Amino acid sequence: MKQPKKIGILTAGGDCPGLNAAIRGVGKTAILKYGMEVVGISSGFLGLLEKDYMPLEENDLSGILTLGGTILGTSREKPFKKTHQLANKKPELIKEHYMEAGFDCVVCIGGNGTMRTASLLAKEGLNIIGLPKTIDNDVWGTDQTFGFDSALNIATDAIDRLHSTANSHKRIMVIEVMGHHAGWLALYAGMAGGGDVILIPEIPYDIKIVNKYLKKRVNSGKPYSIVVVAEGIKRPKGVSAATYIAEKIEDGVGVETRKTILGYIQRGGSPSPTDRLLASSYGAYAVDLIAREEYGNMVMKKGDEISAVPLSDVGGKLRLVPDKHPLLEKARGLGVCLGDTL
Ligand code: F6P
Repeated sequence: MKQPKKIGILTAGGDCPGLNAAIRGVGKTAILKYGMEVVGISSGFLGLLEKDYMPLEENDLSGILTLGGTILGTSREKPFKKTHQLANKKPELIKEHYMEAGFDCVVCIGGNGTMRTASLLAKEGLNIIGLPKTIDNDVWGTDQTFGFDSALNIATDAIDRLHSTANSHKRIMVIEVMGHHAGWLALYAGMAGGGDVILIPEIPYDIKIVNKYLKKRVNSGKPYSIVVVAEGIKRPKGVSAATYIAEKIEDGVGVETRKTILGYIQRGGSPSPTDRLLASSYGAYAVDLIAREEYGNMVMKKGDEISAVPLSDVGGKLRLVPDKHPLLEKARGLGVCLGDTL
């Protein structure tokens, strides 16, 4: 009789809500639908280097759907990084440990960095499946990463709360959300929260335009304004986006301005129902791919359909907000300032 497949699961890169839902989705489908053996790999690719594994039975996967973080732990270990002392040996070591453990496939749950490593490991001949997660929503090849919707809820709630305090004090409130390269979270939360100014890394802004716009609001009797900025917008080195923009606005507009940096709150806590569904579905689909031996793919979503894209197409790319994105046009139409034109 054919041996049941043995699969490893790891979570790598920055954490986000929904990781445990994805681990559960992979693990339960593998055990219950296909009778596979499931092994958790600790702390991302570090666990493969250090042979730090934990067997996962069905009971270990119960009660984790709603939990934030990851029961497997994570790290930013990048085994193919050239600057590292053991750079050339790490991929070999991972290959060796993969074979030694008898894995038929490893499911790598992560963002862009993880998908890059996953595609390189697949190129080295390992059976790999990628699952896209990140609050930044910037993984190329999928419309949606899990983690994004939860972070969007948190950031929108924060903007809602800033409205009332801004109104009471007649202040300008600057709120910084995560997103180094991509402005998805700032754009979506900014629109959902009714931000007046939204600055994203993809659209170069002119602070004079921003200040002119805010002055116009003051002169037309609007008592307060909300400015949503992505952490990755252009600014001097060593100063946060919110700090820099808030100072420039207070100087230029002459209205008391406060800043809020939302930080890691965006990555913590229980996943939203949308993320629970997405992570569970991605996890289940990953195992269907393994059962069909369609390795070297990342699970993705286009429209309503979950499908797969080759990891070799994904690795090393970023999904940025395109300049013709419909929500940008809607924002402009609603009178939101994106920092480039009045
Ligand atoms: O990649 C997700 C992300 O949340 C980015 O938006 C953020 O800049 C980064 O991770 C920070 O990660 P850490 O401080 O954990 O390395």
